[in-house]
Amino acid sequence: MKRTHIVTVIGARPQFVKAAVVSRAVHEFNAKAQKSSDKEATECAVVETLVHTGQHYDSNMSDIFFDEMGIPRPNHNLGIGGGSHGQNTGRMIESIEAILQSEKPDWVLVYGDTDSTLAGTLAAVKLHIPVAHVEAGIRSFNRAMPEEINRVLTDHAAEVLFTPTDTANKHLANEGIPADKIAYVGDVMLDAALYYASLAKNKSNILETLGLEHKKFVLATIHRAENTDDPEKIGQILKGLSYSALPIVWPMHPRTDKRIKEFGLKLPSIVRVIEPIGYLDMVSLECHSKVICTDSGGVQKEAFFHQVPCITVRDETEWVETVSSNWNTLTGPNAQKISTAFRNLTNDSTSGVSTTNDIQEIFGKGNAGDLIVNHLAHINQ
Ligand code: UD1
Ligand code: UDP
Repeated sequence: MKRTHIVTVIGARPQFVKAAVVSRAVHEFNAKAQKSSDKEATECAVVETLVHTGQHYDSNMSDIFFDEMGIPRPNHNLGIGGGSHGQNTGRMIESIEAILQSEKPDWVLVYGDTDSTLAGTLAAVKLHIPVAHVEAGIRSFNRAMPEEINRVLTDHAAEVLFTPTDTANKHLANEGIPADKIAYVGDVMLDAALYYASLAKNKSNILETLGLEHKKFVLATIHRAENTDDPEKIGQILKGLSYSALPIVWPMHPRTDKRIKEFGLKLPSIVRVIEPIGYLDMVSLECHSKVICTDSGGVQKEAFFHQVPCITVRDETEWVETVSSNWNTLTGPNAQKISTAFRNLTNDSTSGVSTTNDIQEIFGKGNAGDLIVNHLAHINQ
């Protein structure tokens, strides 16, 4: 029996969304192998051990994703969150190392660019356990972002780099990563968007709960440290939101909530703040909103997948394809530019110009999860 043991390290909200896709693909891979008449296939199994670092720990930032998205309960929960980058990363490495020494996996699987990603990577490579990185090759070229450092270091330590786009392939090639380590699979977040959007149709009633009407509201999310931790920048964003002609619903990240209170800033009356929500409610709000205004990497892509125009309150984006296809407007944290973008987009009758073909050409076919599991199951044979 060829058994591939993967230890998956996750800890922050976007990683729960991505890991949900791959954990489901692991389950399907094993079910299919058992039913197969091909002897070689029946003898293959993938075993996943989940490590949750605890980076995100409120129940609406963590548990709700496991419950709603069918992610298996973590085998190990480290409870490390709320500290500085150095404290979190250092403590995570120490704990993950001990787990890897006892689990002895074939692979460590990490996602994206958070402190949990880097901690999982460093713990693994120092024990000579190969790392597979999902969402490899993404770059903002802004080294002031903690995420950019996490991505670059992870990519250069990883043995297999699962890329979401062709742009990511090019970035890795430019950095000298050997082509045989790179596997283009498409974006796992497209798999998630497609699968859970159909579940959300029956399971989410957030529109009714909030009294919102289809295409008559704006959805906002802001949480990037470079925006929230600077009173001038978050102040500009709040001012920019005040120019929206449509009501804004904003599930607020705890980091943003803390900073707005700390800086004594006032929210515009057009904004309705709610607690962070689960993925099914989020997908539902995304699909029904007229415009999305965000600084989230994942939410920018979801706007594109669900064909909703997006305003990104950053100066640059990793997801350049959404901008070059005219779907995403970069305003930076600039009230005037946000106001202009709102005016253009909320009056725009051409909303809905990204097509299924555009999406698939850029982000793959929505089967990234299967491709990842198959790759890891067969690579050592
Ligand atoms: C992290 C990631 C960022 C990702 C984001 C997703 C890093 C460097 N950053 O940023 O790339 O886009 O997650 O949401 O890893 N907090 C709570 N409850 C929680 C979680 C956080 O109160 O459940 C508060 C704490 O005060 C914490 C702060 O938010 O210190 C920041 O959390 P942290 O995980 O360090 O960074 P994020 O801003 O969430
Ligand atoms: N998300 C969610 N509920 C919220 C806000 C975000 O389910 O209240 C989802 C969102 O749809 C996306 C993921 O969380 O799938 C993105 O996480 P986040 O914006 O925190 O991080 P980023 O993608 O910027 O790293």
